[in-house]
Amino acid sequence: MTMLPALPDDLLRLPHRREVPFSKLTTLGVGGLCQWLFEPTTEAEAQAFVRTCHREGLPYKVLGGGSNLVVLGDVEVPVLRLRLGSEVELRNGELTATASHGHIALAEKAAAAGLSGLEWAGGIPGTLGGALRMNAGAHGGEWVQVLGRFRYLSPEGDLVERRPEPGDFSYRRSFLVAGHVALAATARLVVGDPGRIAGAMAEARGKRKASQPLSQRNAGCIFKNPEGATAGRLIDAAGLKGLRVGDAEVSPLHANFLVNHGQASPAQFKELMDRVREGVRNFHGVELEPEVEIWP
Ligand code: EPU
Repeated sequence: MTMLPALPDDLLRLPHRREVPFSKLTTLGVGGLCQWLFEPTTEAEAQAFVRTCHREGLPYKVLGGGSNLVVLGDVEVPVLRLRLGSEVELRNGELTATASHGHIALAEKAAAAGLSGLEWAGGIPGTLGGALRMNAGAHGGEWVQVLGRFRYLSPEGDLVERRPEPGDFSYRRSFLVAGHVALAATARLVVGDPGRIAGAMAEARGKRKASQPLSQRNAGCIFKNPEGATAGRLIDAAGLKGLRVGDAEVSPLHANFLVNHGQASPAQFKELMDRVREGVRNFHGVELEPEVEIWP
């Protein structure tokens, strides 16, 4: 375990908590301790955090809703989780929200306002910030298609507000990594028929519910779909559904979901991931790569 130097006073003045279990910070519920969890409630506090870390050469991680994250041990470096509130601003078909706004709740607010363009987002958990960082998408939609202006902190702590430029976002990727912090974004939507919007959202959600184990603790799809194949189908065909290590199990419903029945430890979860990769390698000769983010 690497020991961090003592944190500077101007960091310690910001709202923070010590030794928070990642079981409370992630949807999967696996993990060790988050030694330092910084939770700014204003953009100015978030900026002070990033500026200070930059000045001190201190590495940090940015946490959103923790729904695409597998934590396999204690995290010693400071973790930033924005707590900027969940007000939204609606003007001329444009919906603006903070990065800490819940992603599904945001799609629901758009639908309730009779605005079309985020129907696909109704089943994707996490925060708006996490969705931007991943350029989240489903059913043919993705964030970059609706994104208007957005605001973020650069790794140096500079506040930037602008429109997306070519190269900023691509399939499930963006430049908002490596110390960048998304702060707010505007979705450019169009007025639609409220019944049709609600129907499209319900359909997207229904499809997920029928094929994914959403009532169990999970981190979404664990592995990327390899070129021309589906990870879930490969794992399934290799006979690995139901494989269990302690409380970690390959979901019998969708093989690319590794669920936590409650008490799965980081070691058990890691062993299950390794055994799935090994099983798929032996059966199909295919190397699966994680789709989730893995800490530390
Ligand atoms: N399949 C099996 N066995 C399984 C699971 C799936 O044979 O256990 C087969 C299905 O029958 C289907 C094919 O595999 O023919 C594809 O399955 P599915 O429609 O469930 O889509 P997916 O490729 O497994 C992707 C995304 C999901 C997203 C869905 C729907 C990835 C890695 N996965 O899943 O994203 O929800 O499409 O849009 O891209 C996530 O990002 O966390 C995630 C779950």
